[in-house]
Amino acid sequence: MARYLTGIQSSGIPHLGNILGAIEPAIRFSEDPKNDSIFFIADYHSLTTIKSAAERIYNVRSVAATWIAFGFDYQKNILFRQSDVKEVLELTWILNCFTPFPMLANAHSFKDKSDKLSDVNAGLFIYPVLMAADILLYDSEFVPVGKDQIQHIEIASDIAKAFNNTYKTQALKLPEVALQPESMTIPGTDGAKMSKSYGNFIDIYLEEKALRKVIMSIKTASTALEDPKETEGDTTFKLYSLLASEAETENLAKLYSGGNFGYGAAKQMLFEKIMEKFGAVRERYHALMAEPEKIDEILAIGAQKASAIAKEVLSRIKPLTGF
Ligand code: TRP
Repeated sequence: MARYLTGIQSSGIPHLGNILGAIEPAIRFSEDPKNDSIFFIADYHSLTTIKSAAERIYNVRSVAATWIAFGFDYQKNILFRQSDVKEVLELTWILNCFTPFPMLANAHSFKDKSDKLSDVNAGLFIYPVLMAADILLYDSEFVPVGKDQIQHIEIASDIAKAFNNTYKTQALKLPEVALQPESMTIPGTDGAKMSKSYGNFIDIYLEEKALRKVIMSIKTASTALEDPKETEGDTTFKLYSLLASEAETENLAKLYSGGNFGYGAAKQMLFEKIMEKFGAVRERYHALMAEPEKIDEILAIGAQKASAIAKEVLSRIKPLTGF
């Protein structure tokens, strides 16, 4: 068994770009019996930027409900909320004392954030140490991340080495990056990369009418109804092709090239495809969001399993340091 651990930022409701680009591939990967997957929702990390309690609680539930609704097997694997395992804070403090100040000061994500944000708090600065604690507390072997997070994994590994060298031990397991293949770029309604911060995202959980309205707002070329249309660079076509079968996609390509087929009709097909493909997921998601105690129960199962590992690892670390 190889242990893969991923932390998920809980910065909002997962949208179609997150789902197609990250969540579905990660769930498929976790289904391999050779992999032992730990997913957690990084709610302590979210406090660096989000201060509203209601927003944090809602976001955590929304992310958890999405993973569950998409079929993540939380019995075989582990799904938990970071803040349910307090040991992570204890380890963060210990690791802080093995982390050279300049390593954090030079981390590019800190530089980016401190350039952009008006609230440059110490939590932002310590962010990579908390992340190192997430990774090291669970004896993670591989951490699947995109390019932007590689430096954080290197920092985690450097901190682990510093600790191990100090005590002439192998007590902390050195993590490795499992670089995600450049996840495909999913276009948003304006054709740019779908992103929460660009406001061009498609929330598949919206009520039917509102969802249809968002799909109808997708930007298109201004080719006249009778004229043949380009599939290349067309957002509606691209999104449809990511959801539909090959035969269905070919069929839509023919309609585009045939002329007398408008963008409105294409968008209607995309809307119907989203409803067909995610109908069951939408129902499961809304049922869970209506009964948040069910989500909390599932997260509690994960917290118990995660806690058991965390306690074991901390019991290796603390005596070495004299605690
Ligand atoms: N920083 C990660 C991100 O922005 C989230 C995260 C927190 C994480 N802790 C982690 C990822 C531990 C991997 C391992 O996506």
